[in-house]
Amino acid sequence: MKILSISAEVAPFAKTGGLADVCGALPKYLQKLGHDVRVVMPAYQKVEHEYHTTNKYGLSALPGQLWVPTGVGVSPAGGFRGTLPGSDVPIYFIAEWNLFGRPEIYGYSDDAYRFAFFCKAAVELLAALDWRPDVIHAHDWHAAPLITWLATAGTQDDRFRNIPTVFTIHNLAHQGRTHWKIFDYMGVQTYGLAEENYDEVNFMARGIHHATMINTVSPTYAREIMTPEYGAHLDKLLHSRAFDVHGILNGIDTDVWNPATDTYIAHKFDTNSLEAKIFNKRELQARAGLPQRDDVPLLALVSRLDFQKGLDLMGHPLHMLLNGFGGGEAQFIVLGTGADEYEQMFTRLAHYHKDKMRAYLTYDAMLSQLIYAGADMFLMPSRFEPCGLGQMIAMRYGTVPIVRMTGGLADTVYDGSTGFTFFDYTIDAFWNAMYRALQTYYHNRPHWQTIQKNAMNQDLSWETSAKRYAEIFAWAIARARGW
Ligand code: ADP
Ligand code: GLC
Repeated sequence: MKILSISAEVAPFAKTGGLADVCGALPKYLQKLGHDVRVVMPAYQKVEHEYHTTNKYGLSALPGQLWVPTGVGVSPAGGFRGTLPGSDVPIYFIAEWNLFGRPEIYGYSDDAYRFAFFCKAAVELLAALDWRPDVIHAHDWHAAPLITWLATAGTQDDRFRNIPTVFTIHNLAHQGRTHWKIFDYMGVQTYGLAEENYDEVNFMARGIHHATMINTVSPTYAREIMTPEYGAHLDKLLHSRAFDVHGILNGIDTDVWNPATDTYIAHKFDTNSLEAKIFNKRELQARAGLPQRDDVPLLALVSRLDFQKGLDLMGHPLHMLLNGFGGGEAQFIVLGTGADEYEQMFTRLAHYHKDKMRAYLTYDAMLSQLIYAGADMFLMPSRFEPCGLGQMIAMRYGTVPIVRMTGGLADTVYDGSTGFTFFDYTIDAFWNAMYRALQTYYHNRPHWQTIQKNAMNQDLSWETSAKRYAEIFAWAIARARGW
C-alpha cells in the first residue's frame, strides 16, 4: 500500500508529546511490512534552523515552489525532504516562514489557519511528487483539514478523488475550533455539524465525521470516548460511527528506548543484569543533587504538566511520601513543563523538601532517558490518557509504573504484576496504590524484582500494532473502492 502519514509532530524533528513518538516510529514499522510510506509535517523554525546550520538530519530543499490555492489568492510554499532517522522512510517538510517559522509548535491565535494551510500545501506536494497514496493516515485535529478538504472540494479534483482516509485520535481534548470563514480560505463548501455552534468549525469533529475509518490509540480509550465523561462533547458523533471506531494500542520505538543500548544513560542493562540499573540511579541522584542512597526508593514523573495528567492528585501524596508516611524514606524527581499552577506546586514542594526532591521544569529529552533508567517508580495518575507512552518507556527500563486505570494505562499496566494501579480519581486511591508499591519495595524485594522483570519482558513493540494499522488501511481502501 502507498500510505501518506500527515502530522503536526514527528520525532525527532518536533515533539511536545507522544504524538511525535508515534508519528516517528509507526511509519518505519509499516515500511518493514513492505509498504511505501511517506510522512509530511511542517518545517518549524527549529527544522529550518537545523537545516541552515548543522543539517544533522541531512535534509535537502525541494526544487521549485508549491503553489497553494487559498481564498486569499495563491500562496507559495517551500519544502524540504529527508528520511526518518534509522530508516529510509521519506519525510517531507512544508516550509512557510510566516506560519511555521516560530519558536513553538502550537499556541498561536492563527493555529487553525496554519494547519489548514499545511494540509492544503500537502495536497500540492502530492501533486508535485506525482504520488497518489492509496490511503491517507491523518493524526489529530491538525491533519483533519486534509480529511475535510478531500471529502468536500477534493471530490471535484480528479487527482485526489476517492482517496480513503484513516483518522487517528491521539487526544480528543484538543479539537481545533475556529470560525466558519476558514472554509472560504480552504475553498470548501459544506454544511454544519450538530457539534458545531453557529459560525464555528470543529476540525476534530470534522475528522471524525468525514474520515473513512477512525482510530484511537488504545482499546479502552476507544470505548471511553463514546461516554459523556470522556467524550469531550463528541461522544454522540463517535457513537454514530461506532462500527468504524477502532482502538489500536501504541507501541514504543524499541530502537530508541532500549536500556541495553541507550547511550544517554550512565550504565546499560537488561533483564539479566538488572543489578546494573543502580548505577543509573546513583548518577541521577548525583545529577539532581540528592543523597546517593541505594536503599531509598526514587520516584519520578516525566510529563507535560497539563490538566489531563492528574497532577491535582499529586501534591498531598508527595508531601506524605517525602515526610516518610509511606513507611520509610523516599526521593522524588519531576521533569516537565506546562501550566503555571503545576509548575508552582512542584517548585514549592521542592523548596520544602530540598534534600529529597528535585524539580526540572523544562523539556529535556536526554535527561528523560536517565530518569527512566535511574528511577525505581514512575507516577502517572492521569485523569484521562488516550494511550500513554511514559508508563511503557518506564516499564522497558524496569521502572515500576503507578498509574490510574484509564485509557491506555488500563491496557498496559497490570496491578501487582507489571506495576500498581488505582481506579477512582481520588487522592486516597492514588496514595493507596503508592503505599502498596512502597511496601513491596521496602519489604519484599524478590517480588519487586519479579515485577520489574515482568514489566521489562512485556511486548511493547510496534510490530503487532503496525499489522493492525495495515489491516485498517486495507479496509478503508476496500470501502473507498466499494469492495
Ligand atoms: P502525552 O503525549 O500526552 O504527552 P505520552 O505519555 O504519550 O503523553 O508521551 C509523552 C512523551 O513525551 C514521552 O516520550 C515523554 O518521555 C516525553 N516528555 C514529556 N515531557 C517531557 C519533558 N519535560 N522532557 C522530555 N520528555 C518529555
Ligand atoms: C497523546 C495522548 C497520549 C498518547 C499520545 C500518542 O498525546 O495524550 O496518551 O500516548 O498522544 O498517541
